[in-house]
Amino acid sequence: MQVFEKIKYTREFINARKAEGKTIGFVPTMGALHEGHLSLVDQAKKETHIIVVSVFVNPAQFNNPDDLQKYPRDMEGDMQKLKQRGVDVVFAPSEQEMYPEKTSRTYDFGHLDKVMEGKHRPGHFNGVALIVHKLFDIIHPDKAFFGNKDYQQLVIIKQLTRQENLPVEVVGCPILREPDGLAMSSRNQRLTQQERKIAPVLYQTLKKAVELRNHQTVDAVKRFVTEEIKKTKAIELEYFDIADSNTLTSINKWSESDNPRGFIAAWLGDVRLIDNMAFN
Ligand code: PAJ
Repeated sequence: MQVFEKIKYTREFINARKAEGKTIGFVPTMGALHEGHLSLVDQAKKETHIIVVSVFVNPAQFNNPDDLQKYPRDMEGDMQKLKQRGVDVVFAPSEQEMYPEKTSRTYDFGHLDKVMEGKHRPGHFNGVALIVHKLFDIIHPDKAFFGNKDYQQLVIIKQLTRQENLPVEVVGCPILREPDGLAMSSRNQRLTQQERKIAPVLYQTLKKAVELRNHQTVDAVKRFVTEEIKKTKAIELEYFDIADSNTLTSINKWSESDNPRGFIAAWLGDVRLIDNMAFN
C-alpha cells in the first residue's frame, strides 16, 4: 500500500496506473474508519482495478469549531485497516497541501443544499463540494464511492459532477449498521455508554415509520416520529422530514414521490447523529 501526503506523488502514481489501462476507484473519507467506510472499499474493489482512499479531516465543512476539534482521529488504526482491506493508495494530505491559499469559491446547488443538513449546518455542503472537487481533480477516479448514510451529500456530489462536467461516476452504497441497528459513524465513538444504548432509537423509529407508510398519511408519520423521539428524554430531535430521494423536496402526500425517504438528525448529549431510510 502506497501512502502519499503530497498531491504531486499521488498524481504521478495514478497517472502511471492509468497509462497501464487500469481503472481508478476512489473512496473519500475523514478517517476514524469503521466497517461502513470499509464496505465502500469492498464495493470499489468489485468495480475498479486500483483503489484510492483519502483520509483528510476537512476543516472547510465543519460549521462548528468544537465538532472539528473533537472529531476522532486514528491515522495508525486507519492505515492498518486499509492495508488489510487491500487498498492500493492512501492519500493523506496536510491542511496546507489541500488549502495552500484561502479559497472563497461558492457552489450553487439550488434547493439541494438549503434543506435538512444544509439548513442546520450552514456552509457544510459548500465545504464538502470544495474538498471533493479538489480530490476528484487530483485523483481523476473513474468511479467514486459514497455511502447512503450521508444521503444528502451523495445527491449533492452527483449534482456537483453534473454541473462541473466531472468525468466520474458517483456510486451510492448501502448504510452499514451495528447489530442493534445504529448506523455506523465515526462520531459513535464519542457517545457515552449510556448514550450508546439509547442511540438505536433513531433506527428503530425510522423502521416503525416505514412500516406505517401503507396506512398513515405523510403528516401522521411525521408526527409519529416527533412524538416517539420526544419520549426518549436523552435524545433531542433536530429535524425529521420525508422527502423525495432525488430532488430532496419535502412531501405532504405519498403520491408526490415515487421514492420517498425519511431523514433524521438528532443530538445525544453533544454528539450529533444522522440517519435515513427509504420508504419503499
Ligand atoms: P466520512 O464521514 O468519513 O464518510 C466517508 C464516506 O463513508 C461517506 O461516503 C459516508 O457516507 C460513508 N459512510 C459513513 N458511514 C457509513 C455507513 N454506516 N455505511 C455506509 N457508508 C458510510 O463523508 C465524509 O467523510 C466527508 O464529507 C467527505 C466526503 C470525505 C468529504 O470530506
